Amino acid sequence: MHWVNLLLSALSVTWAKPRLPLLSVQMIDVVNESNTTWKAGQNFHNVDMSFVKSLFGTLLNGPRLPEVMHSVEGLRLPSSFDSREQWPNCPTIQQIRDQGRCGSCWAFGAVEAMSDRLCIQTEGNVSVEISAEDLLSCCNECSIGCLGGYPTAAWQYWIKTGLVTGGLYDSKVGCLPYTIAPCESHVNGSRPPCTIDPIPKCTMQCIDGYPIPYQKDKHMGKQAYSVPSNPEQIMAELYHNGPVEAAFVLFEDFLLYKSGVYQRITGEFLGGHAIKILGWGEENGTPYWLAANSWTTDWGEKGFFKIKRGKNECGIEAFIVAGTPLN
Ligand SMILES: *[C@@H]1O[C@H](CO)[C@@H](O)[C@H](O)[C@H]1NC(C)=O
Ligand SMILES: *[C@@H]1O[C@H](CO)[C@@H](O)[C@H](O)[C@H]1NC(C)=O
Ligand SMILES: *[C@@H]1O[C@H](CO)[C@@H](O)[C@H](O)[C@H]1NC(C)=O
Ligand SMILES: *[C@@H]1O[C@H](CO)[C@@H](O)[C@H](O)[C@H]1NC(C)=O
Repeated sequence: MHWVNLLLSALSVTWAKPRLPLLSVQMIDVVNESNTTWKAGQNFHNVDMSFVKSLFGTLLNGPRLPEVMHSVEGLRLPSSFDSREQWPNCPTIQQIRDQGRCGSCWAFGAVEAMSDRLCIQTEGNVSVEISAEDLLSCCNECSIGCLGGYPTAAWQYWIKTGLVTGGLYDSKVGCLPYTIAPCESHVNGSRPPCTIDPIPKCTMQCIDGYPIPYQKDKHMGKQAYSVPSNPEQIMAELYHNGPVEAAFVLFEDFLLYKSGVYQRITGEFLGGHAIKILGWGEENGTPYWLAANSWTTDWGEKGFFKIKRGKNECGIEAFIVAGTPLN
């Protein structure tokens, strides 16, 4: 049996409890009153179920990548580590992107970590934003459009075809900036309301005015691999090579995350979600992974979050993928 099914059958006991409405005040109260390691609050308002479905979209049973093992013997890992501080001349590590109303988290987690790694490996000489648009629109084998995709396939595509540059929606940064507009799903914002977006077309052409032709703008990967589901291995990978992409099993209460170290308290299974892990640490005695989400800076801790480390919380340690850039 696949481990996701195992996890789900283990959780079916808790599902017997009466269901709390999605994104409800009751659910926030249950989290806050449980005295857990994190605080809940409202991150979204006036959203419907189709919007909530667009927040995740990672298929957890994708192609496998070869595993790479680090020698951890004699390696002294610090008790906390933050890639933003380790590589301050790589600005993409600090960035929070916005997937908009599209289940493209699998693409965002990948291009964010690829951008960071290219900068880290070149010691800041190549500091670009790798395009989520190029990956989302042109990699057919990666996804079922905005309904979801495979992180491992994204990294394989980087090796085989490469990816051009491209920044945030409407940024005019790079060859192919993101074309799915941010929409008003977060509290007190001023963005336009959310509409359902189709997957963008693969144009293989940079935006007007970009000085480099599409094919010449491709940045290639050299190697793509999985990191063993072992906290020490994951830490060694982050420490040596920078941020990684991770996928985990998303439960409803995660949508309400405001601060602290997330661990599942309540709510039903929603689907797979991919993010970028950029460090680790410990808060009030609870070890955590530091991660970047792609739900704008309005969500969580200015777009970032912490999730419990060392116990494979919601499968966060089970699907780590990464790679090395070719340059
Ligand atoms: C939950 O706890 C946080 C932090 O103490 C607080 O800001 C928030 O208002 C609480 N929410 C509810 C609904 O109790
Ligand atoms: C949480 O802490 C408060 C105050 O210490 C206590 O009254 C309450 O019973 C605790 N709740 C749980 C679920 O442990
Ligand atoms: C970065 O560029 C400098 C100046 O051109 C060069 O000396 C250095 O070797 C480069 N570093 C890497 C890692 O490519
Ligand atoms: C949102 O706006 C309301 C009313 O203006 C205000 O009371 C509330 O504090 C705001 N919330 C946030 C998260 O800014």
